[in-house]
Amino acid sequence: MTNQFSQETQKKHITTETEEKLVALFTDEVEEKLVASLTGEIEEKWAASLTGETTELLPFLPYLLQDFWALGCEPGIMVSLIKKHGSLTKDTKVLDLACGKGAVSIKLAKELGIKVKGIDLMSAFIEIAKQKADEYGVSELCSFAVGEINEAIKAERDYDFVVFGAAGNILGTPSEMLSKLKATVKTGGFILFDEGYLPDNCTQDDIRYNNYECFTKKQWFELFEEAGLIVVEAVLDTDLASGDTQNLDSTSGMEAITLRANELIFKYPDKKEMFEGYIQSQQNEYDDVDHTLASVTWILQKTSA
Ligand SMILES: C[S@@+](CC[C@H](N)C(=O)[O-])C[C@H]1O[C@@H](n2cnc3c(N)ncnc32)[C@H](O)[C@@H]1O
Repeated sequence: MTNQFSQETQKKHITTETEEKLVALFTDEVEEKLVASLTGEIEEKWAASLTGETTELLPFLPYLLQDFWALGCEPGIMVSLIKKHGSLTKDTKVLDLACGKGAVSIKLAKELGIKVKGIDLMSAFIEIAKQKADEYGVSELCSFAVGEINEAIKAERDYDFVVFGAAGNILGTPSEMLSKLKATVKTGGFILFDEGYLPDNCTQDDIRYNNYECFTKKQWFELFEEAGLIVVEAVLDTDLASGDTQNLDSTSGMEAITLRANELIFKYPDKKEMFEGYIQSQQNEYDDVDHTLASVTWILQKTSA
C-alpha cells in the first residue's frame, strides 16, 4: 500500500461537504430527471447499498459519509488482483460500476496507468471522484459519469476488467448480476467483485444487517459455474495486512458516522429516529463483517461468450 492512500492522507484530503451541497443534491435538473425515472425498487436498493433502510435518507448520505473515500470494497485488493492477473497495456480498459467516490478507479489509474470509467447514481460522489482524479493527476485516465448502472451497462462492452465493489444486490439476483457483469467484458476478460459469504457454521439468522440474502461459499461456486465463469482467485479481507486497508476500521468508522448523524439530528430534530436508525444499521453491518461474514474479493474470468 502506498503512503498516498493511507487513512491519514485520505482524511486530510477529503473536503467537508457543505450543507448547501447536501440540500442541492436533488436540485440539478438532469439529476432530478434521472432520480424521478428510478423505480421504487432501484431507489430502495440504492439506499440499502449505503446501509440506508429508507429512501428518505438518500439526500443525507453524502453528508453522513463525508469522512470516507472508499465506501466498502478494498481498493488495494482490487488493484493487486488486476496487476497480478491482467496483461496490462496502455489500452487496457476497466469499468468500475457503482464506483462511489472513485477510490478504486483512481488507485488503478495512479498505480497501474490504465484507463478507467466509473459510473454511480450519486452525483455528489461523482463530483468528489472527479476532484480526486484531478488531485492525484489522473484525470486523463479516468472518466466518471452519473448513471443508473442497470441501464448504463447496456452500452458498456468490451472491457478488460469490470469492478463491482461493495454494491450488493443492485444488479439483481446473483445470477442476474453475474450475467450483466459478464456482458461488459470481452472473452478472456475479468470480473472483480466483493461479497460477504456465510461461513459453514453460520446461517442467515446470524446476520444483523438483514437487508438481503447472503450465500455460502459453495453456493457462490455453483453460481459461478452456472454463469460459465472461472474462479481465478479469491482474497479474504483478513489476508490483508492491517496497514493496507483503505477503509476506516469499525471503531473509527462508527465514530465518524455517529458524529455526522448527530450533527444532522441537531439540524433536523424531527428526523432523529431516522438518523439513529442509520447509526444502528451501520453498527449492525460492521458487526456482521467483523464477527460473522467472510469478506472476500473474487476475480473471475470469462472464457467464452
Ligand atoms: C457501498 S457503495 C460502494 C462504492 C464503491 N464501489 C466503493 O467500494 O468505494 C455502493 C454504491 O452503489 C451506488 N449505487 C447504488 N445503486 C446504484 C444504481 N442503481 N446505479 C448506480 N450506482 C448505484 C451508490 O450510490 C454507492 O456509491
